[in-house]
Amino acid sequence: MPENSRTSAHQHAGSELLTDKATMIVHSIGELAIPPGNKTGAVHGKDMSSVTRHKDAAIVIAGEKIVAIGSSKEILREHGSGDDIQLVDATGMLVTPGLVDPHTHLIFGGNRANEFIMRCQGKTYTEIAEAGGGIVASMRATRNATAEQLAKVGLKRLQRMLQAGTTTCEIKTGYGLDANSELAMLEAIYQLSEQQPVELIATFMPAHAVPPGEDRDEYVQQIVDDMLSRASELSQKHGADAPIIDVFCDRGYFTLDDTRKIFVAAQALGMPTKVHSDEFVNLGATKLAVEHKSLSADHLLNVSDEEIAKLGASETVAVLLPGTSFYLNLTEHAPARKMIENGVAVALGSDFNPGSCHIFSLPLIWGLACLHLRMTPEEALTALTVNAAYAIGAGDKVGQIAPGYQADITIYDVQSIEEVPYNLGWNPVAMTIKKGAIVHRI
Ligand code: NIG
Ligand code: FE
Repeated sequence: MPENSRTSAHQHAGSELLTDKATMIVHSIGELAIPPGNKTGAVHGKDMSSVTRHKDAAIVIAGEKIVAIGSSKEILREHGSGDDIQLVDATGMLVTPGLVDPHTHLIFGGNRANEFIMRCQGKTYTEIAEAGGGIVASMRATRNATAEQLAKVGLKRLQRMLQAGTTTCEIKTGYGLDANSELAMLEAIYQLSEQQPVELIATFMPAHAVPPGEDRDEYVQQIVDDMLSRASELSQKHGADAPIIDVFCDRGYFTLDDTRKIFVAAQALGMPTKVHSDEFVNLGATKLAVEHKSLSADHLLNVSDEEIAKLGASETVAVLLPGTSFYLNLTEHAPARKMIENGVAVALGSDFNPGSCHIFSLPLIWGLACLHLRMTPEEALTALTVNAAYAIGAGDKVGQIAPGYQADITIYDVQSIEEVPYNLGWNPVAMTIKKGAIVHRI
C-alpha cells in the first residue's frame, strides 16, 4: 500500500473504529482505484488523472460508512475475526467508488424508438422535434400517467442502472410541462427514493420545452411565480432538500433571458441551479451558470474558449454527455481535452432519456468518454465519481472511497480500470454495495 493521504486517513480512522463497529470488510481487492478528492470541491483539470491504485486492498465499513482502507492482509488480521462482520471476498477484482450519474431524464411515459429509426435514416434531432416529435411527444405520454405509474416505470430502469454500477442518480422532471404534471413527476422521484436502493437527487425542470400552444414568456412567468415554490413545498413535505432547478437554454427552447429569470427566482428560494448549455448552439448559458455559481453546466458541445476559461476558474462542474453525441450520430463531441487542459472540473453522465440518448450504462459512457472525448480511464473515473457527485451537490458524502464517506462501492469482473472502457458494451459490474449493504450481485 503506497504512502498517500488515504493511508494516513486509515491510521486516523483506526481510532474511529473503536466507536464505529466494523460491520463489513470488502477484502482481496485486485485493484482498488481511488480517484483524487476531498470534501471541499470537485477535482479540476490535470489533477483528475491522479488516481491511486492499491493492490491486495481491503475496505472496512461500519454501518453505512467507510471507516478505513488498507492492505487486505493487515485489515483481515486487525478486524476480520468478529462474528458479526460480513466478509465480502472481491476475488482479485477491480473496485471503485460507486458510480454517480449526474444527469438523467429517467422518468417518462412511452418511448421514442420511432425517432431513433428516423435518425438512422438521416433525420436530425431538431428536424424530428420540429415535426412534432422530441420532448413534446414524451410530454403527451407522460401527462396521462399518475405519479405511481411514473414511479413504476422508473423503478425498472433504476434496477438496470444499479446492475450497471450506479449507486447515486440525478433525475429530472421535464415531461409534464404544466404545474400539476411537473409536480407529479417530482412526486414520482420522491416515491422512487423510498422504493429501491439507488440514492436519488431530484431536479425540477419545467423549463425543458415550451408546451405546445403556450406563449413562452407566459410559461416562464408561471414557472417563476408558481411552479418553483410549489416544487420547494413538495420537497419539504418529503423531508428532502430543495430540488435543483435546470433549464434547457438552446435554440427553439429557452432564451438566455428566460434562463436568467428562472435562476434568479430559484436562488431567491434557496434552490441550486444547473443548465443544459451549448448543446446545439451557444446562447451564453455557460457564462450565466458561472456567474450564478450553478452546480453544473451540461452538454457543452459548442462552449467558447472564453467560457472554458471561466469554468476553469469556477466551482461550476462541466457535465459532459458523450452518450448523447454518439446516439445522435454527431461527428463533433464536447471539447473535453481543452477543458481539462484549462483546469475545468469535468464530470460525465448518461443523459438517459427517451429521445437523444437511451443509454443508462455508465461503464458504456466510460468507454465513449475515452473513445470520443479522448479522456484517459483515470480522468473518466474521477468524472464518474467525485466530480459527478459535486455536480449534483452531493460531493461531501458520495463519490469517494475515504473514511467518513458513504460506503457506496462498485465491483467489476475485470482486473484494472483500463478494462472497463475496453469492454465497451458488455456490463462488467459484478456487485454493487450501497450504504454498506450488498444491493446487487451476479
Ligand atoms: O439532455 N437536451 C435536452 N434534453 C434532453 C433530450 C430530451 C429528449 O429528447 O427527450 C437531452 O439531450
Ligand atoms: Fe439532458
